[in-house]
Amino acid sequence: MADLDRDANPLMMLLAGGAGLMLGLLANPARKLAVQAPTMLKGEWDEALAAEHKATLAVFDLLEKTSSDDTARRSFHLMQIKHIIGKHAFQEENVVYATMRQRGLLEQAQHLNEDHGVVKQLLFDLTMMPKDDARWLETARTLRGNLETHMAEEENDHFPKLRAALSAQENAELAKAMNKEGLKLA
Ligand SMILES: [Fe+2]
Ligand SMILES: [Fe+2]
Repeated sequence: MADLDRDANPLMMLLAGGAGLMLGLLANPARKLAVQAPTMLKGEWDEALAAEHKATLAVFDLLEKTSSDDTARRSFHLMQIKHIIGKHAFQEENVVYATMRQRGLLEQAQHLNEDHGVVKQLLFDLTMMPKDDARWLETARTLRGNLETHMAEEENDHFPKLRAALSAQENAELAKAMNKEGLKLA
């Protein structure tokens, strides 16, 4: 009987561990859905991306309020910016720019993609640089400037052109495909 108990306990522990793992996997999609919800609820893909642009710049506003002593705050906001931009770029590169290429907008898609490369470089520079470095906020401002130019081009030129080139159904399909990609990194 004692032997049975000894055998049963590790089994129960294994089952409990498995249940914990299952719960973890279930919690993850729920959290991802919550992160992607603001984008999904917008409905229109271009409006959703413009809202993400705004959300990104709002975090830069918070960065601007930090002094070189606030290294923890700078690290936290940088992490937020990297998460928002990472998900945003994944949606654009994998779906929006890919659709632009399908429609013959090759040079435009290439140009936007190169902008993303520069943004990733500046994010890396900010990650590696000590957060109390005198050049840190200057570099963050350079990044913000680059982003604002890129965002304005997307919102005022590239996105309206792509929207106009697609049927209502194609625009709806684009939004669906974009949200699917966004969920992966949400
Ligand atoms: Fe972009
Ligand atoms: Fe964008």
